[in-house]
Amino acid sequence: MISTAMLNLLNDQIQKEFYSAYLYLSMKAWFAEQNLDGFANFFNVQLMEERDHALKFYNYVIHVSGKVELQAIQAPPIDFVTPLSVFEESLKHEKFVTASIYNLVNQAIEEKDHKTSAFLQWFVTEQAEEEATAESNIRKLQLIGGNTQGLFMHDAELAKRVYVPISPPLV
Ligand SMILES: [Fe+2]
Ligand SMILES: [Fe+2]
Repeated sequence: MISTAMLNLLNDQIQKEFYSAYLYLSMKAWFAEQNLDGFANFFNVQLMEERDHALKFYNYVIHVSGKVELQAIQAPPIDFVTPLSVFEESLKHEKFVTASIYNLVNQAIEEKDHKTSAFLQWFVTEQAEEEATAESNIRKLQLIGGNTQGLFMHDAELAKRVYVPISPPLV
């Protein structure tokens, strides 16, 4: 049986992952408004991945016979400044999520809850990937600077990103 402390953290994480999807949904809208459809596509894939993360936690709570307690999702920012600033905000948010995942891992280790600890390892790897992707985009956008041609080339690059459902999809 999973502990109440662990269960509460897992339920909190469902909310954080849905908020991530909400934040990226907002970023997608901002890029669509700027007619940067490749960037919008990137954040569309991003938001679908975050929904999957939320569902992965949700399914795990059900899998361990815990009670799913869905929480309110706060409104994300709607106005952004530049493509670079969006990725900087995205990186900041991913670091916040990484810290949260680490907190869950610490709790699982402390409780010797090896099942939850094993489940969480997928997210540890995923967060490293998420931060690396945001950092790479930041570096490229810093190089591009105010160069419009470079911006459109990067937009074309991001248009190629394709959504791949996570595997295994549940727990
Ligand atoms: Fe996530
Ligand atoms: Fe993420």
